[in-house]
Amino acid sequence: MKILVFEKEEYLDAYVGEYICHFIRNHSQPVIGFATGSTPLGVYRYFIDNYQAQKVSFRQVKAFNLDEYVGLTPSHPRSFASAMKNELFSHIDILPENINALDGSKEDMIQECQRYESLIDANPIDIQILGIGMDGHIAYNEPGSPLDGACHVVDLHQESIESSLDYGFDHIEDVPTQGVTQGIGTIMKAKQLIMMAKGEKKADLVKRMIYGEVTPDFPSSIIQRHPNVIVCLDRNAASQLKEEDYEKR
Ligand code: PGA
Repeated sequence: MKILVFEKEEYLDAYVGEYICHFIRNHSQPVIGFATGSTPLGVYRYFIDNYQAQKVSFRQVKAFNLDEYVGLTPSHPRSFASAMKNELFSHIDILPENINALDGSKEDMIQECQRYESLIDANPIDIQILGIGMDGHIAYNEPGSPLDGACHVVDLHQESIESSLDYGFDHIEDVPTQGVTQGIGTIMKAKQLIMMAKGEKKADLVKRMIYGEVTPDFPSSIIQRHPNVIVCLDRNAASQLKEEDYEKR
């Protein structure tokens, strides 16, 4: 595992942004996994700026979103599909038919999960962007999720419901209580993971993710078992790590 700690948040965003742009420029059919949440927004800004400066094109990129709320249509303003569209996809030249996501409004969610898992198997993800949730989740794999799980519906934990207030819901009772997510097994099939975390509030979580036991009780710990992972942190998120374990940037 490579751990990089950046002096400034903007350096972190530019590093991850440029790393992925470089990959896109050098591959004919790049498949990128995108995460919602506040952590990757600076990277998405980097993509938009570089697209506008004609330094990168997303026309060949296939995109896979990580997770979604159950009960919201993709066009609902608070859906993760809408968030990805508003924060990134509507500002770049990605083709709409290349944007893939779980649809949390389907009648038969088991079938929807199987559809998405098969689609990912047919289009293996080259680079998956990840964040860590306040309960240690990755995507919506809450504590207790099987480490080899496929796409599935989950009951959201209270921390995840409360964190959703940061994503534009006005009242806690408006937040869906279930999510649908790539499983930990799905995420582990990606060829490379880029795990990002920022801020003091993530410091203890990052420590447990890197040094703790790999356990379903702390789903992000699974990244220790992935053969190709880059962890990108700001100084605050890295404050509980030993200096000899990371590279300073
Ligand atoms: P955040 O969410 O980027 O908004 O902190 C991370 C996550 O829940 O995975």
